[in-house]
Amino acid sequence: MSGEVSSLPFGDAPTHASAIELYARKSAGFDERLAQTVELLKQAVAEHGAGLIQSTSLGAEDMVITDLIARHALPIDIATLDTGALHDETLALVPAIEARYGLKVEVFTPVQQAVIQFVKTNGERAMYESLDLRKACCAVRKLEPLSRMLAGRSAWITGLRREQSSNRAEVPFAEDDGKGRIKLNVLAAWSWADVWHYIAANDVPFNALHDQFMPSIGCAPCTRAIAVGEDFRAGRWWWEDEAAKECGLHATKDKTGVPA
Ligand code: ADX
Ligand code: SF4
Repeated sequence: MSGEVSSLPFGDAPTHASAIELYARKSAGFDERLAQTVELLKQAVAEHGAGLIQSTSLGAEDMVITDLIARHALPIDIATLDTGALHDETLALVPAIEARYGLKVEVFTPVQQAVIQFVKTNGERAMYESLDLRKACCAVRKLEPLSRMLAGRSAWITGLRREQSSNRAEVPFAEDDGKGRIKLNVLAAWSWADVWHYIAANDVPFNALHDQFMPSIGCAPCTRAIAVGEDFRAGRWWWEDEAAKECGLHATKDKTGVPA
């Protein structure tokens, strides 16, 4: 899908800027964080073997992890959820990974009939109408395919980082995903500067939309560019309250202990 990408909300503000120039910076402790991540990946292979999978959104963090998997020849399967509403720039990374690393990315898609039915009943713009409808769209396009992606697996690797949002400030390196699997957040301690330093230093392919002020990229209708000074995830579900901004892939618990 294309054409839904909004630019910065200023008349003559630039719409492009090199993410590497903006963000890449080697800060104290980077080498240690990198070594720790490689060690976590190796341990995960030793513990989970073929039960392990990388779930990639094809965003910057996940491209770092894929590069590490390739660089260290780790036997870890890689998969993505193509919701049917991703930007063309995102989908272009599937063949880019295959060309660059010789690694296959398995693509999981929603049940077509379920998507057609959802759109027929609720319309193309349902996600903007209510939180319930937005979550229902995520359930059809992301959560159901995620359950197929993870079937038969004992652990999955994500690119969640503590710095991404207040919701994620306490993301651990390993956690129970609440469905009997281990979720491994191997970049939990990395900064955004670390991610881009790694990408620049290793010439990792990345989503062209990161050069258009989109640090966090999801489905096209639910992602916009951020303005100077806005939070990392301000461009995701921007019309919703901060507390709601998760799609269920990474359900967090609210103060009552109920998953969001
Ligand atoms: S989201 O829940 O808000 O969409 P975010 O985009 O920050 O999540 O991504 C966090 C992690 O969730 C990614 O590093 C990746 O592991 C996983 N993820 C998110 N979107 C996808 C996707 N489309 N396919 C596979 N994994 C995904
Ligand atoms: Fe639907 Fe938006 Fe969720 Fe994508 S992020 S599944 S388009 S509501």
